[in-house]
Amino acid sequence: MELDSCEFHVVKRKKGKKTGRNVEVVTHDNHEDGPMFDKVSFKRRLVECMQEIRLTELVENCTDYLMSVNVYQEEKCLCPSSSRFGDTEDSEQQQHSNFQPWPQLLSYGIGRFTSCPIARYQLAFLLVLREKLKNPPCHIYDPVFSSREKEIIEDFECKVISHNEEGKRVCDSRTILFMPHCGKALYNNVIWANLNTLENLVIIGNSFSRMLDSNPHRLLSKTANYVIKVAPYMVETPLKPASFVHTDVFNDLSFHIFPKSKLINALPEFGENNTEPVYTEEEVEIIQKSIV
Ligand SMILES: C[S@@+](CC[C@H](N)C(=O)[O-])C[C@H]1O[C@@H](n2cnc3c(N)ncnc32)[C@H](O)[C@@H]1O
Repeated sequence: MELDSCEFHVVKRKKGKKTGRNVEVVTHDNHEDGPMFDKVSFKRRLVECMQEIRLTELVENCTDYLMSVNVYQEEKCLCPSSSRFGDTEDSEQQQHSNFQPWPQLLSYGIGRFTSCPIARYQLAFLLVLREKLKNPPCHIYDPVFSSREKEIIEDFECKVISHNEEGKRVCDSRTILFMPHCGKALYNNVIWANLNTLENLVIIGNSFSRMLDSNPHRLLSKTANYVIKVAPYMVETPLKPASFVHTDVFNDLSFHIFPKSKLINALPEFGENNTEPVYTEEEVEIIQKSIV
């Protein structure tokens, strides 16, 4: 079942502006969040979406994976088995008993969840996931959020990041990044900022392997050069949203991790020449901070 899509438009910067770094966003005019917006009934709808998500296996599958990968990265350094992340019942039990809470959740690019049902379900998923993980701190950012949306996020005890960090937050403790259907440049920035802390990350986002397979190298080298760089050290596991009725909310998403056991094989030049990405293309799918 498809929900109305919520389009993200990037408009070209006027010619003659030197930096080419600012990209504006045009959001669809939405009246839901206008003066007549009823926050109480919207929050009720969000809670209903959370309840709908709880009734699926989605979050459970996701937490199972996160538990196994937590042990995997911190204690065992063994690859999780492909048979639903645990070889035997014993190993699964052992993984659960070794489970350490995830220190933090970070989300970029959920979108305008008061007007877009896809974004609303994604936010609901993030809130249920956080609940299952025993409420670690959760920071959320999308430059298109309205002030009402920021208020709602805070009402659910998450923090709205106060400025556009362009995805360049350094995650110096283990972090689950939830970035559903974001642009390549945003993933690229996350990777660049965390080249020395990759083993801390689980990125739930669009399949990197599909991104690399389905785009011309010329384009990728401009907007996803760091995704290319880390691909050999990555393990990607598809998120299986089979049980979720709306097919365009969690489609094409995967978990991406960078196990120590793989990073150890990184070539010496991995740490060199990692200049900050600059996107000169006019249409990268990221809203960059303004340079005044
Ligand atoms: C293609 S939309 C995806 C929206 C929604 N998650 C979905 O699946 O429909 C990409 C999202 O990335 C957001 N985005 C762009 N630049 C960003 C930035 N610098 N930081 C965080 N989010 C950003 C956009 O505002 C937009 O909501």
